[in-house]
This record gives sequence, structure tokens and C-alpha cells, in this order.
Amino acid sequence: MAALVAIGRVNPVLAAGNYIPELTKSSFGDNFHWGVATSAYQIEGASDVDGKGESVWDRFTSRGHIKDKSDGKIANDFYYRYESDLKLLKELNFKNFRFSLSWPRILPEGTGTINEKGVDYYNRMIDECLRLGIEPWAVLYHWDLPQKLEEKGGWTNREVVDWFAEYADLCTRRFGDRVKHWMVLNEPAGFTTLGYLSGTHAPQRTGIGKYLAAVHHACLCQAEGGRIIRRNVEKSHIGTTFSCSHTEPYKPIGSHQRAAKRLDVVLNRLFIEPTLGMGYPIQDLPFLKKIEKHMLPGDEQKLPFEFDFIGLQNYFRVIAKPSLIPVIWANRVKPDSTAEITEMGWEVDPEGMYDILKQFSKYPVKEIIITENGAAFPDRLVDGRVHDPQRINFYKRYLQQILKAKQEGVNVQGYFAWTFIDNFEWAEGYRPRFGLVYNDFDTQERIVKDSGYWFRDFLK
Ligand code: NOJ
Repeated sequence: MAALVAIGRVNPVLAAGNYIPELTKSSFGDNFHWGVATSAYQIEGASDVDGKGESVWDRFTSRGHIKDKSDGKIANDFYYRYESDLKLLKELNFKNFRFSLSWPRILPEGTGTINEKGVDYYNRMIDECLRLGIEPWAVLYHWDLPQKLEEKGGWTNREVVDWFAEYADLCTRRFGDRVKHWMVLNEPAGFTTLGYLSGTHAPQRTGIGKYLAAVHHACLCQAEGGRIIRRNVEKSHIGTTFSCSHTEPYKPIGSHQRAAKRLDVVLNRLFIEPTLGMGYPIQDLPFLKKIEKHMLPGDEQKLPFEFDFIGLQNYFRVIAKPSLIPVIWANRVKPDSTAEITEMGWEVDPEGMYDILKQFSKYPVKEIIITENGAAFPDRLVDGRVHDPQRINFYKRYLQQILKAKQEGVNVQGYFAWTFIDNFEWAEGYRPRFGLVYNDFDTQERIVKDSGYWFRDFLK
């Protein structure tokens, strides 16, 4: 109850008896998809072998922009170690593996010449999943744009829609006979904001104009990618993923409430509403009107696509209050918050997961899958073991809130933990460890953390 008071949230179910469901695998149902999520640049390594082209992240890291000056040249070395890693995944009782395809590994220049060695790697990795009885879930785009395309403007150039269509067509033709679960984009709000507005991620571009162009083109690709998968893959299960955060006003006063509403548009509504045929939420965030500058006749009809599922990725809530730059102000933690804080500086807020599930379930979506959720804590390897009770507690509490929402009728059908093995955490480098498995980056030795064993037993 203390937490409820601290965050000022009125939750009728909790208020009516502090109800937290008992956590068992069976209460999620037999068809619930349990998995782990990863992404190519964060795990594969092998960044310039076998014909792979340069990505914007190869370029960005080579300029020393990462906090620990690291890069993804080796990462988890998954390119060479996928067999033993997938075997370990199976031992932990996960039946679903989410990975992304690296665009520059498959099309080194972004379009045109195909790198057959790159295609071959994914064929081998996918076949290995199937051999082990693990379902592959492929994401077409998880942030590693070919550098050659960035040099032509990247996501700000409308031609990206054609480039992406060529790439999506190729991937679905080559892998669609075996991969049935597809996701088009990973967190478009993430890569457009960080890569094209604030410039804190690759390709380090800034400004509202570039951001809005990237947003519109990503929305077009999102729908076009869905149509291409539908056309090329028989019996496909098609989704795309959205980052999302429950937004709250800093103080319960009008100006802060309006700021929270604007922040909600940017973080939660901007990418899903055009997909659902609702257009861009310009009414609630007037500066978005400038996006129309990037729209051509007929675009409105191209934005919607009926996805089979939407992937939600939730890590923290956000707090809003007005500010001149950049119109909205967000902080993940209220100064008076007593909540636990992760290595990323994010507040542990399981109720925020419940709130966001309730919010998204109001949209007419067929199915929701939590395609990412997890936490970084300062893990230590002691006598060959990693005791991470904080992470176990994190997973239990978030899963309870998901189950609660499910029991109240939210159609959530899967959960993917972020992440399998500690990996490259973008601009933060290797310090934040999100894995269920600890990685010794000097030796590439994998050590299952207590949280990994917890999942193994839970999923038995
Ligand atoms: C979202 C991103 O999809 C993933 O790449 C990242 O590592 C996690 N969040 C954790 O920050």
C-alpha cells in the first residue's frame, strides 16, 4: 500500500484487497509463449567477417561514443557460439527464441547484392532452433541500419520504404518456410528518438525535422513490412514491437497533467495509432502537424496494417512536467520515490506494466505479447555462481502484474525476458547486465545466474 500512496495511483483492484495472483506457469495457459529476446548487434559479434557490411552501430562505436569505449565487434560471439547457446536455452526450458536479422549481414550495401554467407548463417541458426524444438521469432529491424543507406539519409530519406521492402521481401522468401513468427520493427519510438532527435544513439542525428521524417518513414515501413510478410509467408503470425511507459504527472495539477498527456503521445501512441487507421495523434500534440510535410498523397491509406499481435516492451514508468525544451520533460524517478532502482537508473515499477497493459488493451488489437521486459543489476560472479535475488524478485513481480491483467481479460499471450545472456547495451556498453546468464567477456564463458535457474524451474 505504501507504494500506492507514493505514486498516487488509484487502482481499484488493488484497493479492493491488494490482490496479487499466485504465480504458476499453468495459470498463464498452455498456449502462452515463453521466451527470451535478443538482437543481432547486441549478441552476434563477427561484425566484419564473411562479407557483412558496416552498420550505423559499427560506425558509431568506432568513433568512441560508447560509455566504456566498447563496441559490438565480438559481443557474445553468438555468430560462432549459437549451437551451445541454444542448447543452454533449451536446458533453461525456454521454447521460444527472439532474435533479429542483421540487414547489413544479408545486404551489405542495404540493397542489391546478397551476401549468401550471411543468409547461410541465419539458415543454420534457424535450423538449429528447430532441431532443438525451439520456435524462432524473427525481428526484421533492430536498429542496425546499413551504413551505406545512412549515407543516403537513412530513415529520413523516403526511399527507405523501398529499401526496406526489398530487404523484407528477401528475408521472408529465404526464411519464411521455417520462421512463422515475425516482427517488423523493434521499438520505432526508440530508434527515431535516440538516433534522429537526441542523437544519443547511432546515427547520431538531431532535430525535429529529421525526427518527424524518420517517424513517418518508420510507420510506412511498419505497415509495408507486415504486408510483405503476409504475402510471402504461409501461416504467419505477424507483429511489430512498441516500447511503452505508463506516464504520470509530476504533480496532480493541470499543466503537469497536460504534459503527461503529451508525453504519452510520443512514448505510447505515435506508432500504434496510424497502424490502427487512427492517423497520427496530432490533436493531442500539435507540433506533430509538421509530420504532414513528409506525407505524400495516398500515404494515409498505406499506414494501417492488421497485425496478428503487438509486442509491448516495458521497463519503467515516466513522470512528466512542463518545460520549454523539448516541450515535455520526463524523468523516470520522482524525487520522493522509494522504489528500487536498476543499474540503468530505472525505477522498478511492476504496477506500471499492469497499467500499460490496460491502456493498450483498449485498442482493437488481436493479441498482446510482452516481447521484452527485464532489468540490469550489478551482478557479481562469486565461486562460480551469480546470486541475483533482485532480478528474480523483479521477474516475479512483473509476471504477477501481467497475470493479473490477463485474468481481468487482457489478451496477453506471451512473455519474452530481456535478455538471455548479458550483452552489449548500446551507448551504455557492457556495464549493465540484463542477462539470465552471466557472460565473462574475457573468456566468453556462460554462467547461469540464479534467475536463469529460477526460470528453468518455473517453466518445467
Ligand atoms: C529495448 C531494446 O529493444 C533493447 O535492445 C535494449 O537492450 C533493452 N531495451 C534494454 O535497454
